[in-house]
Amino acid sequence: MIEQACRNAAEAGLESSCRFEVRDALAGDLPGPYDGLIGLGFVEYFDDARALLQHLHSMLTPGGVAVLQIWNRHPWADDLFIPLHRGLARLRGLLSAATEGQPTSTPPAEDVSHRRYTPREFHRLADDSGFELRDARGSLFFPHRFFIAEARRARWDLHLRHLGRRLPALRRRAVNYLVALEAR
Ligand SMILES: C[S@@+](CC[C@H](N)C(=O)[O-])C[C@H]1O[C@@H](n2cnc3c(N)ncnc32)[C@H](O)[C@@H]1O
Repeated sequence: MIEQACRNAAEAGLESSCRFEVRDALAGDLPGPYDGLIGLGFVEYFDDARALLQHLHSMLTPGGVAVLQIWNRHPWADDLFIPLHRGLARLRGLLSAATEGQPTSTPPAEDVSHRRYTPREFHRLADDSGFELRDARGSLFFPHRFFIAEARRARWDLHLRHLGRRLPALRRRAVNYLVALEAR
């Protein structure tokens, strides 16, 4: 990540104004306070989002902005694909039981659903932690694993984005979303 970031900065001609370090965001030893911070693919690493948000708040100047990516606990795509996946898994189990005499079992995936938040849940946590919601934008994309053909996925993404503009209820059920939070 750091090597790639250095390459990106060099390509953008920003080498002299950027510094990249590997640090624990929560260790409390970062020099701060900061005017802004960005966490993409970050919030889901923490069990306690409230404690995380309070810590991030303490790292910002008043009026500072945190941009965070959040996985929705209740995305629309789950309604469609979870039953489909369960059905297929059951079918596979039945087929292998019929051919090999015993059902195959796969270990359950680690449950991290408590690290996903509906927009409403996350906004409440942010509000409790001293943040003002400034902006929120959802992405309705299909998770990669459902589509083998990238071109088809991209086309569906586009359709969904158009639909989402007209339907607020669908936007609330984005697969993931970005929030911009301002520290009060
Ligand atoms: C899914 S990657 C996302 C990386 C990058 N933000 C991006 O969008 O490509 C998650 C990153 O969060 C980092 N991370 C997890 N816990 C962290 C912590 N306590 N402090 C700092 N970084 C952390 C991991 O090391 C990893 O690089």
